Amino acid sequence: MEPQVFRQVIGHFASGVTVITAREHGTNYGLTASAVSSLTLEPPMLLVCINKNTGTQAAISRTRVFAVNILNEGQADLAYKFAKPQSDKFQGVEFCYGQFGEPLLAGALAHIECRVVTDVEAGTHRVFLAEVDQAKSYVGSPLIYFRGKFGYFDQAERLYES
Ligand SMILES: Cc1cc2nc3c(=O)[nH]c(=O)nc-3n(C[C@H](O)[C@H](O)[C@H](O)COP(=O)(O)O)c2cc1C
Repeated sequence: MEPQVFRQVIGHFASGVTVITAREHGTNYGLTASAVSSLTLEPPMLLVCINKNTGTQAAISRTRVFAVNILNEGQADLAYKFAKPQSDKFQGVEFCYGQFGEPLLAGALAHIECRVVTDVEAGTHRVFLAEVDQAKSYVGSPLIYFRGKFGYFDQAERLYES
C-alpha cells in the first residue's frame, strides 16, 4: 500500500479537529490532531495518536497528562497555527490552565482533560490511551477535516432533526 494512496483514501473519513495541549516545566505544548477517538464509557477513556517527533509527544510521555481542545468552526486559524512547528504557538492565543496545568483554549467547542493510562508505539507515532478526568462542552458547531481540507458542518441542524 502506497502511503500517499492511504492518505488520500483515509481522508474520506471526516473528522473533527482538535488541538492537544500539554505543559512541562513551565512550557506550553500543543499540536493540531485529528487522530482522536473515544475508547470506552466505563471508565470514560479516549485515545490520541501523536507523532514521536513533536515536543507535545515528549511532554505527554513524561507528564502523563494532556487536554483535548475540540475546535469550533471559527477556529481554523488555530488549526493552522498549531499544525506548524513554531517556538511559541501560544503567543496571541487566549487560554487558561486546566486542573493538571494543561492549556485550555478559549472558544473551543469542548475541553477534555486526560490522564494517560498506557501508551503504545506505532511506527512514527505514539498512541496514548487515557482516562478522562474532566470534560466540558459549549454551544457551537465543529470545525471539520475532510479530504485534506477544513470545512463546516452546515447540515448539522437538519441531521439532528431526522
Ligand atoms: C487537520 C490536521 C490533523 C492532524 N492530525 C495529527 C494527529 O492526529 N497526530 C499528529 O501527530 N499530527 C497531526 N497533524 C500534524 C501536526 O499538527 C503537525 O505535524 C504539528 O506541527 C506537529 O507539532 P510540532 O510543531 O510540535 O512539531 C495534523 C495536522 C492537521 C492539519
